[in-house]
Amino acid sequence: MADGRHGRARSLVNYPHYEVCEAHKLRLRGLTPEMRIPREKWFDHPFYRKQKQMCDYHVHFREEMLQVMVGIQGAHNLFLDAGGREEDEANRERARAGMMKSLRRTSSIFSKSMEVLNFHVTMEERYLFPEMQKISIIDLSFLYQDHKHLHEAEAKVTSALDVLLQHLLRTMTARSQEYLKQQRSQGQSDSKDDKGDRGDSDEDVKGGQMFLDLIACALEFDTVFMNHLGEEEEIVMPISLTNIIHL
Ligand SMILES: [Fe+2]
Ligand SMILES: [Fe+2]
Repeated sequence: MADGRHGRARSLVNYPHYEVCEAHKLRLRGLTPEMRIPREKWFDHPFYRKQKQMCDYHVHFREEMLQVMVGIQGAHNLFLDAGGREEDEANRERARAGMMKSLRRTSSIFSKSMEVLNFHVTMEERYLFPEMQKISIIDLSFLYQDHKHLHEAEAKVTSALDVLLQHLLRTMTARSQEYLKQQRSQGQSDSKDDKGDRGDSDEDVKGGQMFLDLIACALEFDTVFMNHLGEEEEIVMPISLTNIIHL
């Protein structure tokens, strides 16, 4: 999480931390000489302010994905605290509560962002790309395929978040029931150690694996997403800087 891809650069409209594939490098060779405008020159180009530009619409997606990644990382840290890194049970309980709050908030940011992304993609596929295809010889069909891959990677994150949240909720409910049972039988025996409460049960091991799965899915989606936004801009911007797009 320390590289530039996850830093402050996400709020910049001129976001540089993405990687393009070999097929994309070949595509760029198809741009006409007048379309070969270096990325850093797009924003001062006389056409940039003449119409709405896609770059401006992509900034908040990058920022929201950063929030999601930071939220997952923070929740995972609290999961480790709740699972025994904290010595004191009261602190472990606070960590559990914080973890659930952070994960729910993260899940909400992700789902709202994906809702807007789906709308953005629909607008591109139904209106923008067909319009651009009328005025440019550049083949935009790869973008439809990219959107499909993007949705597949997005679905994996949504599923991993749902599975983890359900599991944690189940585990916490079981822990609460166990606690109530102990309270009721108080006096009968004080000998029960807090092994279960320390979080090293099978359920916590499962939860740990689910967290790792979620982190892997989120990292994969973030990479696919950042690369898609970058490649899309490199193809769409030269068209919209050299033509008026009628939408
Ligand atoms: Fe886009
Ligand atoms: Fe797109």
